[in-house]
Amino acid sequence: MQSDPDRIAVGVVGVGGMGTVHAENLHALNPGVQVVAVMDADPARAEEVAARCGSVSVFGDAHEMIADDKVEAVVIASPDYTHAELTLECLRRKKPVLCEKPLATTAEDALKVVEAEVGVGRKLVKVGFMRRYDPQHLGVRDAVTRGDVGRPVLLKGWHRNPETLPGATSEFVVFSSAIHDLDSARWLLEQEIEEVYAHGVNTEPALGKNTCDLQLIQLVLSGGCLATIEVYVTAGYGYEVGAEVVGERGTAHTVPAGGVVVRRDRALSRPIEGNWRARFQTAYVNEIEQWTKALINGRAEGPDAWDGLMSVLAAEACVASLRSGLPQRLQAPERPVLYRQGLSEVAG
Ligand SMILES: NC(=O)c1ccc[n+]([C@@H]2O[C@H](COP(=O)([O-])OP(=O)(O)OC[C@H]3O[C@@H](n4cnc5c(N)ncnc54)[C@H](O)[C@@H]3O)[C@@H](O)[C@H]2O)c1
Repeated sequence: MQSDPDRIAVGVVGVGGMGTVHAENLHALNPGVQVVAVMDADPARAEEVAARCGSVSVFGDAHEMIADDKVEAVVIASPDYTHAELTLECLRRKKPVLCEKPLATTAEDALKVVEAEVGVGRKLVKVGFMRRYDPQHLGVRDAVTRGDVGRPVLLKGWHRNPETLPGATSEFVVFSSAIHDLDSARWLLEQEIEEVYAHGVNTEPALGKNTCDLQLIQLVLSGGCLATIEVYVTAGYGYEVGAEVVGERGTAHTVPAGGVVVRRDRALSRPIEGNWRARFQTAYVNEIEQWTKALINGRAEGPDAWDGLMSVLAAEACVASLRSGLPQRLQAPERPVLYRQGLSEVAG
């Protein structure tokens, strides 16, 4: 498929906040990677990002862009509801795809992606769980896999956004934010989620009383581990994401954001990032770099379609638990052979 074996030509669908980060990071990876096409529902937006990425074709239709012969691999960063359909289109064309999370907005659609990829017979789908490329999270995972903390028994995750979108629903909070933490739990503990129990409250009247902007999610995992995840999307003060794995001999956790410590007026302070772009800047670069390197070498790496499906199943169970007030067991399908080489491929 590749015209130049040492270079990969990528098309990006959706160049809003996330897609622009990916397009710019891909462009910066020159000469191993070339952004050859962009598509966005907003043509002016597409033109603007195309101009920043060199000589790039602008498409008005995502299916046309994916089908175009010069596009060898695809990044999907359009809204969540487009992900499954466009990923399936990439699989039909046998083109590798980095699809932003969530892989789909229903487990039924995520399963269709898994089944289509099994039909192709090789891994082409990667899901944008960028924490797997964050040095802090990788440090925790390395400590756990080396056995530094003994047998892991508990994961504590926290995820605070200063603000969310107007009109955000409880379901949006789960599928847009908590889904990262659900994936982190599976990846850091190397166990599948078997049961979820989610509680939520509204702390931000502007969102309406039915929106749980603060959610506490408890998990029971297949190897007997427990997890608690706090997701607070109107925390106001800044953007913070972290995790601690508690083991039988110790614990490993991410450290607060770096930056200068200032001592003044009998107080000590250090900066906290204001948004996901700043917090995960390095992770996004590593994620896209490792994806394109693997493609040039003809292999797959990173969170795959199975990880995408399992996180969507867990997210659906969280929404059902918030609605019913009851714990929910996950009904996972049998894991196809294609995805049986461990819970996840380690980045790098
Ligand atoms: N992994 C992460 O850390 C992370 C962070 C932010 C967003 N995301 C994901 O990235 C995706 C985009 O989020 P965002 O924050 O960039 O949103 P955004 O609103 O900033 O950008 C979305 C872009 O898609 C375009 N668009 C709308 N409908 C489209 C369609 N049918 N086809 C093509 N383009 C279309 C919009 O015009 C816009 O430019 C979402 O799925 C989101 O969940 C992931």
